[in-house]
Order: sequence, then C-alpha cells, then structure tokens
Amino acid sequence: MTPSESLTVTERAAVENVIDLAALPRDFAWGTATSAYQIEGAVTEDGRGPSIWDTFSHTAGAIDGGHNGDTACDHYHRWREDIALMRRLGTNAYRLSVAWPRILPGGDGPANAKGLDFYDRLVDGLLAAGIAPSVTLYHWDLPQALQDRGGWPERSTAEHFATYAGLVAERLGDRVTQWATLNEPLCSAWIGHLEGTMAPGRSDLTAAVRASYHLLLGHGLATRAIRAAAPGAQIGIVNNLSTVEPATDSDADRAAARRMDGHVNRWWLDPVHGRGFPADMRGVYGVDLPERPGDLETIAAPHDWTGLNYYFPQVVTADPGGPAPYARMIERPGVPRTGMDWEVDADGLETLIMRLTEEYGARRIHITENGSSYPDTVAPDGSVHDPQRTAYLTAHLAACARAARRGAPLAGYYAWSLLDNFEWAYGYDKRFGLIHVDYATQRRTIKSSGHHYADVIAAHRAL
Ligand code: FCB
Repeated sequence: MTPSESLTVTERAAVENVIDLAALPRDFAWGTATSAYQIEGAVTEDGRGPSIWDTFSHTAGAIDGGHNGDTACDHYHRWREDIALMRRLGTNAYRLSVAWPRILPGGDGPANAKGLDFYDRLVDGLLAAGIAPSVTLYHWDLPQALQDRGGWPERSTAEHFATYAGLVAERLGDRVTQWATLNEPLCSAWIGHLEGTMAPGRSDLTAAVRASYHLLLGHGLATRAIRAAAPGAQIGIVNNLSTVEPATDSDADRAAARRMDGHVNRWWLDPVHGRGFPADMRGVYGVDLPERPGDLETIAAPHDWTGLNYYFPQVVTADPGGPAPYARMIERPGVPRTGMDWEVDADGLETLIMRLTEEYGARRIHITENGSSYPDTVAPDGSVHDPQRTAYLTAHLAACARAARRGAPLAGYYAWSLLDNFEWAYGYDKRFGLIHVDYATQRRTIKSSGHHYADVIAAHRAL
C-alpha cells in the first residue's frame, strides 16, 4: 500500500486544503521526536548506569500497570529499523535525547566510551539516511548517583550537567548542529518535585523551586559548554507551554489564570530571555531562590532557537487549598479530548507560536513535540487506522502554517512520537506513535496517521 492509498477522502482533502503548506519555508524540518528512556530499553547494557526513572518505574504503585522502561521499544538494538521507518515517513529531521546515564553512569567522572559510541553510530545512521538529528541532552533521566547526592535541588547537579553536555557536544558536535539543553524543565521541577507523580517523586515546594532554578542554571551553563565544544552549534531549550484562560470572569479566577500562566509559562520563559524570575511568582511560591551573583546572566545566555512542546490549553479556576500555584484546570463539558483526557485545541498552538514571536522575540521556533494518544486498535489485516490522531495532526499543522503566514519564524515540526512508547507514569497503554508497536513482538506498523504525515511532507516538497 502506498501512503496515498491509505488515506480516506476526508484525510486527502485535509492535506490539500486545510494546511497552508506554502506558508512553511522550503527547508522546513519535518520531524518526529522520541526520548531515550521511553524507547531505548537495554537499561543495563554497555555500562549504562541507573537513572531516576529506573528507580521510579520500579517503585511499587508509581506506574500504571506496573510498567517500566527496561525493554521499551528496544530501540537500542533496533535503531537501524527505526531509521528506515523514518525514511518511509519521508521525514528529514529527528529529535532524540541522549541518556546521561549511558555517558556518565555515575553522574560525573570518566565518560563511558560505549555509551558515546551508541549515539555516534545513531547520528551517522541518521545522516546517511538524510535525516538531521536534533539532540536533546536532558529528557528527565538524571543519573541516580546524582539524585543520591541531592539531585536538581542542588547546585552541583547543574554543574555536572554542563560537564556532561560538553562531553557529548565534543563527540557529536562535528555532525550535530541542533542542540537542546533541557526538555520541559517544568515537568522535572513541578511534576517531579511538587506533584510527585514523576521521578524523583517528591512533594516539596522548596525542593521544587530550587530544582527549577538549578535546571535553568544548568541550561545556561550547558549552553556555554556546548558552544565551547562545538562552535557552530545551534542551541535551544524546549518548554511545554499552554494557553491559560480563566474559567469565569471573576477576579479570583482571573488571578488564578495569571498565576498558572506564571507557573507554566513565564517562570520558564522570562529568565532565559533576560527578564529574571517573575516577581509575582516569587511571591506566590514564597521560597528564597538559591541565587548567586552572575547566575541570571548565565541563565540568559543567548540561545539560537526556541523549542515549543504543545499538547493542550488550560482553563483554570482558583484553588486556594491546593498546591502552588493555587489554581487548577477545570474540565469543560463538550470539548473534544484525547485519550489522555487532554483538551484538543489547535488554535492554542497558533497563539503560543505568536506569543513566542511577539512577546519574546523568538528568532527561530521549532515545534519540538505535538501529538495525541488514542486507544488504537489493530485491524485483522494488521493495519492501524487512527482517524482521530490524523485529525489532531492535521489541525495542529494547519495552526503552524497559520502562524508562519502571520510572520512567525517557524522552522520545524517534530511529531510526538515516532513510535508508541513508555508514556512515563502512564506506562505503555497510552499510545502517541505515528507507528504502532506491538510490545510482545516489537513489530512496528505505520498507522494511517503516519501515512498521512508522509503525504503532507510529500505535498510540501512537491510545491
Ligand atoms: C511530554 C514529554 C514527552 C511525552 C509527551 C506525551 O510532556 O516531553 O516525553 O511523554 O509529553
């Protein structure tokens, strides 16, 4: 079956009419994204040390179904097949993350040559396939050894991160141009240290605020280290942002929306753009930042591109009794939701791209993640038809094109995800892939959304 044969009439119309492909630049990066712990498996192979996610996923009750990333998609052994699948999608870019515990199994000290060799081979394989690697250095898998010394609430973790970043850039920087320091530091800090539902599973506001500070400091220090090791590097940071609206027009809800915006958006964007940490949020948290002279300049080290992960909008109400920021999302009746229960709102993506462009002066924006989980079913003939994911993808690509038409410097889109994979605390039942994975056999099947993506890419190329 060729890609176009797999499309329904509606899907074909979507490609041809809904997405203003001509608004996207000729050299647009059409990518997919993954992260190390979610796909690699091979957690004890070739000298890899444990990460906080190994520890957390083996903690009773932490992960739905008692799942863990021990095997995941076995990408560590199947990466050649996975690159071949990327080629079938027609992508020209791929966002991967390097596992810190493969490079520095003890967090610091001597580098593990076999760990570096793995990514070296992977990068060469991608380049040989005409796919540009975009490398993220931290997608949540902190070496457990550093957690044992306090983890992100400690300043030394930021310093170790920079050393590690420099090591990887030294090895891969002759072939990798696009680098991201952190993936979604919000999740590391707020979900890992405040809500406690992700590794390392703490619920402590002081630790969370300190972690947020040291993550951003680590970003700044790593930016410098990458530039020193690879002068041509294009460096960015990846944040997951949300549009935030008050549930009602009341003063309390409007203030709650302002706090939530500070918590999920401004706290992460302002410091790296030289604006410091938002004063209102410092007040909301009421925690002293572990500041030292010069840190704010380090955190604001110039970056070359901005990574935006977008999944859902937030409509919030005041929640005085809840955890910081004393605001919580409400469920709006009648709004379509994905299998994660996340609201579908493609316009939010356009709004956020324009906010980065207009309010923060972003010079180059990549949508580093966007995608949806739905409970896929495999048909008797082995195919996976996923019209909801196809519709989500189409609507969000159309939003990207609208933003580009309005002048946003949009340079790429990386669909989350290449493969179904280990969805953190939700385990394997939440499937985000454009490619289905049968975990019992590791058989991969391109879903109809994947064929649809291939058609969009081909249509853009044909313009
Ligand atoms: C993002 C994560 C990514 C994946 C998607 C669904 O928050 O960066 O690893 O889990 O959500």
